[in-house]
Amino acid sequence: MRLDGRLALVTGASSGIGRAVALRLAGDGARLVVTGRDPERLRAVAERVGGQAVVADLADGVEALVAALPGPPALVVHSAGIGPGQTADALLDVNLRAPIALTRALLPGLRAERGHLVFVASIAALGVAGEAVYSATKAGLRGYADAVRAEVPEIGVTTVLPGIVDTPFHGTERRPFPRPVSPDHVAEEILRAVRRGSPEVITPRWLTLGAKVHGMAPGLFARAQRGFAARAR
Ligand SMILES: NC(=O)c1ccc[n+]([C@@H]2O[C@H](COP(=O)([O-])OP(=O)(O)OC[C@H]3O[C@@H](n4cnc5c(N)ncnc54)[C@H](OP(=O)(O)O)[C@@H]3O)[C@@H](O)[C@H]2O)c1
Repeated sequence: MRLDGRLALVTGASSGIGRAVALRLAGDGARLVVTGRDPERLRAVAERVGGQAVVADLADGVEALVAALPGPPALVVHSAGIGPGQTADALLDVNLRAPIALTRALLPGLRAERGHLVFVASIAALGVAGEAVYSATKAGLRGYADAVRAEVPEIGVTTVLPGIVDTPFHGTERRPFPRPVSPDHVAEEILRAVRRGSPEVITPRWLTLGAKVHGMAPGLFARAQRGFAARAR
């Protein structure tokens, strides 16, 4: 997919991966609408990318955001998300309900544009101990993306499964394993996947092995996780 001159919507663009994706998209000539909750951080990003800022809380629904768009986006990057420490309802609302509702609202335009959807899920989609509901939202997102890819051949659909990314996402908690990657590295992988039409990106790449083990032997995957957790303590 070509990006120059095309309208791209990035959720979660006020911080982390979404912000890095917006900066790279602007570098590739896309016209941007960026959205998030924090007005100051969001406007700073909008200014840098020469795009439109739409302040919106996705937990309140997607109608206001959709109404504020200047036209149908050719690319939608769903990066907004909250982490394991939140309530189950909040996790389901922001990480799963909102990207599904937004996709459904924008799908006719994406079809017409022969556009592309990116869902930032997580390696937790494989099921991470201590993060059951977060894992469920990300597995749900991955399953939803797989179904849309099969249902709507006119558009590209990429799911992204990062390990740990060096963003404010985990607050003050330090997670050394798997070794964090930079948000810009994830953004670079996302743009490459959009250009190539890749269905799934796992980053860092070696975590693909975890996904393979999970697919072939889910019991072994769970036992290996317990082993890693015991060693990390
Ligand atoms: N960081 C990691 O280790 C990691 C690993 C795997 C997957 N991920 C996934 O990557 C995505 C991006 O995370 P990140 O690392 O970039 O985290 P981040 O720096 O904390 O950014 C999260 C973004 O989501 C937005 N957001 C959160 N709740 C929202 C809501 N209710 N309505 C609208 N926007 C909301 C935030 O907006 P405000 O800041 O304006 O509130 C922010 O822009 C998430 O989906 C996360 O699950 C992250």
